[in-house]
Amino acid sequence: MKKRIFSGAQPTGQLHIGNYLGALKNWVALQEEYESFYCIVNLHAITLPQDPKVLRQKTLDLASIYLAAGIDPEKSTIFIQSDVPEHAELTWVLSCIARMGELARMTQFKDKSPRSLNKRLIRARASLDAEAIRIAENEAFLDFGNAGVGLFTYPILMAADILLYQTDLVPVGQDQKQHLELTRDLAERFNRDFGETFVVPEPFIPPVGANILSLQDPSKKMSKSDENANGAIFLLDDADTITKKFKKAVTDSGTEINFEPDRPAIRNLLTIYQLLTGKSADECVAHFDGKGYGQFKTELAETTVEFLRPFQERVKDYDDASLKSILKAGAEKARSIAQNTLQQVYEKTGISGPAL
Ligand code: AMP
Ligand code: TRP
Repeated sequence: MKKRIFSGAQPTGQLHIGNYLGALKNWVALQEEYESFYCIVNLHAITLPQDPKVLRQKTLDLASIYLAAGIDPEKSTIFIQSDVPEHAELTWVLSCIARMGELARMTQFKDKSPRSLNKRLIRARASLDAEAIRIAENEAFLDFGNAGVGLFTYPILMAADILLYQTDLVPVGQDQKQHLELTRDLAERFNRDFGETFVVPEPFIPPVGANILSLQDPSKKMSKSDENANGAIFLLDDADTITKKFKKAVTDSGTEINFEPDRPAIRNLLTIYQLLTGKSADECVAHFDGKGYGQFKTELAETTVEFLRPFQERVKDYDDASLKSILKAGAEKARSIAQNTLQQVYEKTGISGPAL
């Protein structure tokens, strides 16, 4: 039997080249070898306020992005999280074995809690001053009261997503590693307390590209929610915008174009170039040997525009009716598996069973 993959992205903001290189690209490659489930996690999206109309539209848009990126509905199952109500049901059961302390340690939660706090914490971390970091983290804890409960329990929903499908492998970017560890802990705890039920999943984090950085501030990851849109290359940006954003991208001191760890800005740009061209790291460095930043950025922009062009054309190919029919078929397939797992969980925990 084929091993199984599960992954997902939130239908919020705009997908960027970091999402593609860190996650989607690998989903496409891995679908050949694995039985794959790719989910549009709309229940995760509402952990932060969303405009309902926009959320509905973005949910369909994300399906067309999955398809245009190369996810083949003949090979993989594409579906909307809320179409399979077992995700919310298993979340409740797992909430009852998850611990406050382990959730409070999740860095994504700490980073997404109220904005002012978040900024203080980021500044403190950037300063590398241990005392400042300690104070900011304590304040983050005190400000608990203002953070949404959904933001706090978000990783349990993610664990439910993964565990429902008896998933072997979860391809994600670096920022999700900690959530994967929590998922494994919850699976092991449930198996220990109630008997073998869940497959304990492994993360798949690519060796290159798992953490694409902001073009404006290489101390941060490229993000959908960056206040500065110049920090991210969105998959649907036009050629002009892409060229301008690369031109404005910050660089490091010095002139060499190489992968040195203490030159994060250039390293990041070169990583994007490497992954889009499929060249080896050495080939990339050799290619730009003796060339200046200006020429490097121009070539990088051209490469990105050419790479995204066919993708952007394909995105327009899908009409709402065909997307909905793919998502409906996907939900039916997903649901049959999810129901089976939830049934086992309910029997093992005494929620359902022979006497009832
Ligand atoms: P999201 O859109 O936040 O649901 O993320 C979808 C996927 O993209 C997840 O697997 C993330 O780990 C991955 N991802 C998000 N930002 C980046 C980034 N800057 N670099 C690499 N991967 C990323
Ligand atoms: N939390 C992930 C993110 O923000 C999205 C996600 C939800 C996910 N459920 C998942 C990723 C299950 C992998 C597996 O990027």
